[in-house]
Amino acid sequence: SSRVTLGPLVAAIDQGTSSTRFLVFNAKTAELLSHHQVEINQSFPKEGWVEEDPKEILQSVYECMERTCEKLTQLNIDISNIKAIGVTNQRETTLVWDKETGEPLYNAIVWLDLRTQSTVERLINKTPGRNKNHLKHKTGLPISTYFSAVKLRWLMDNVDEVAEAVLTHRAMFGTVDSWLIWARKGPPWPSKSGSLSGIPISGCLGDQSAALVGQMCFQEGQAKNTYGTGCFLLRNTGAKPVMSDHGLITTVAYKLGRDKPACYALEGSVAIAGAVVRWLKDNLGIIQTSTELEKLAASVGTSYGCYFVPAFSGLYAPYWEPSARGIICGLTQFTNKSHLAFAALEAVCFQTREILDAMNQDSGIPLTQLQVDGGMTSNRLLMQLQADILCIPVVKPSMPETTALGAAMAAGAAEGVSVWSLCPEDLSEVTSEKFEPQINPEGKCTVTLFQY
Ligand code: G3P
Repeated sequence: SSRVTLGPLVAAIDQGTSSTRFLVFNAKTAELLSHHQVEINQSFPKEGWVEEDPKEILQSVYECMERTCEKLTQLNIDISNIKAIGVTNQRETTLVWDKETGEPLYNAIVWLDLRTQSTVERLINKTPGRNKNHLKHKTGLPISTYFSAVKLRWLMDNVDEVAEAVLTHRAMFGTVDSWLIWARKGPPWPSKSGSLSGIPISGCLGDQSAALVGQMCFQEGQAKNTYGTGCFLLRNTGAKPVMSDHGLITTVAYKLGRDKPACYALEGSVAIAGAVVRWLKDNLGIIQTSTELEKLAASVGTSYGCYFVPAFSGLYAPYWEPSARGIICGLTQFTNKSHLAFAALEAVCFQTREILDAMNQDSGIPLTQLQVDGGMTSNRLLMQLQADILCIPVVKPSMPETTALGAAMAAGAAEGVSVWSLCPEDLSEVTSEKFEPQINPEGKCTVTLFQY
């Protein structure tokens, strides 16, 4: 059978906390042509610790690339049309490896990990006025367990192999994107990623920045919220970094081209979103699959006064409180697993509401709608609840893979492949689904919020 002619293609490696994906898009239409996904194991060696195996991560990338290529071949799509690959990843997760052997010197310490809590407390205690924002003017960030520097400190202080490799100048340190890109050049990248081996990796964005790009939030003031393992609301603040007075972080959003200016974002980071679903499944066993959660919660349509604060990894924005822990309250003898399921969904929405409130206070210009993406957005009940709790419409693109698309777009742009979404005239082709907040006859939102 004959080859399908599509023009240039762009691809993305999307290495998230819970899974790895490789996706290939038609550059002209942004149509997702094929993809493959592999789940990533997490280990919890001690209370509060979260680790992943760097080799498993690498292997999962090879597997996804290989299987996607097989699928493309079955579709008669010519792999050599892939012009660029973008990498996007679970940002702060920290690795150290030996540059001579390519061997990881410890497991990857996942962004959610709390082992550095005492280091963080010690660092904060050293600052004038015990100020967790002491370095914010330099880094845009509070001193927190979330970020890579304290994880690297822990590795240097607690892992002999790391300490020795640092002394002998063999230690390489990075986040997952650096590990993958380095591994492609270094010894561990196997020849079996075969047909893709000559294709350049030309774009690299953290997954939240990539989603901002994939959602085409290129204008100052535009924002998106991505519901993955955690949930991250980013608002484009343009060419200037803006410091938050309400517990948000300041981050580079993207830089698309050597001569282009960097664009910045304000970010509200919520540690636990999809992870609460995984917890209900793996730890409590009240659902067998993630998709069951919606049905269970919808069967009651209320939490009956049960509240769930899933602060499994402390609380991130706007509190930055590593000592916080999860709580379920408001239980009665009437409460059952369906109410708990509903409370879990509400928890994700309430956390987003807090972030949105902080964002609106920082900018002084309230968002009038929220663009959303990520795995949990297939949960329609969650989306409706989110609109009700925010009192603004929630808009979901029909192509949910915005994170990967953003990375592929960045890679394509770097190779001179004109990718559709970077052309404003194509915006009319974006289809989406809108969840309107439920309004009562007085024109108010039906959900009454407690006061923070
Ligand atoms: O900062 C961590 C974030 O990038 C992880 O994203 O999609 O794995 O929840 P995700």
